[in-house]
Amino acid sequence: MNLSVLQKLTYGLYVVGAFKDGKAVGCVINTCFQVTSERPLLAISLNKSNYTLDAIREFKRFSLSIVAEDTNPEIIGRFGFLCSRDVDKYENFGYEVAAGAPYVKGQFAGRLFLQAEQFVDCETHVLVIARLTDTIPGSGTPMTYEYYHRVVKGKAPKSAPTYCTGDSNGSDEKPAEKPNAATKRRYECDVCGYVVEVDGELPDDYVCPLCGVDRSHFRELK
Ligand SMILES: Cc1cc2nc3c(=O)[nH]c(=O)nc-3n(C[C@H](O)[C@H](O)[C@H](O)COP(=O)(O)O)c2cc1C
Repeated sequence: MNLSVLQKLTYGLYVVGAFKDGKAVGCVINTCFQVTSERPLLAISLNKSNYTLDAIREFKRFSLSIVAEDTNPEIIGRFGFLCSRDVDKYENFGYEVAAGAPYVKGQFAGRLFLQAEQFVDCETHVLVIARLTDTIPGSGTPMTYEYYHRVVKGKAPKSAPTYCTGDSNGSDEKPAEKPNAATKRRYECDVCGYVVEVDGELPDDYVCPLCGVDRSHFRELK
């Protein structure tokens, strides 16, 4: 079976927000679709290891911020590659609360607020089926998953349902050409996969522009 055909499925990108023990938590997802039109129900797929799933199981209410092409990519990095158990993902961005759920501040194409009604076990993941309770309109062009890979040069971690191995990782994009100049060196972030090209050594105070981790997470690509 040729699994690369799965990469032809199209998606958007969303930031989920929820409360867990009074703390605002959340993560990035690409798996969201509208299930019904009257009193709309939506479905999202969450990995069982994601803290955000624990939060939604307990609290039921959550927000979905629809990522736009001009949404700050650092939000995607922080919410998509780090775990809310370990960090406060909202620290640098802040959040507001609507319909009982937190949503990260910033430029988004819109916000949806939902109340979870069913949790369907799907082996490694759980399909959360939730009722739409409120919306906040936003602005900007919604970012597609394809745009995220092609333009933002972003990757997806193993917990994403659509994760795949290899350089394409969800797109048909070819790996970047190796730099010609002998002085150019490339370093890759081991958290989010961001690749930076610099003259000489990567500075000690370098911080990943996608997920915000420090220099110790970068290894040189040969
Ligand atoms: C582009 C992208 C798409 C993702 N899609 C999903 C998804 O659909 N479902 C999911 O469970 N995790 C997805 N993830 C991974 C979670 O965002 C990630 O595991 C996150 O660290 C979980 O945080 P938490 O433990 O605080 O919930 C995606 C990540 C990225 C970067």
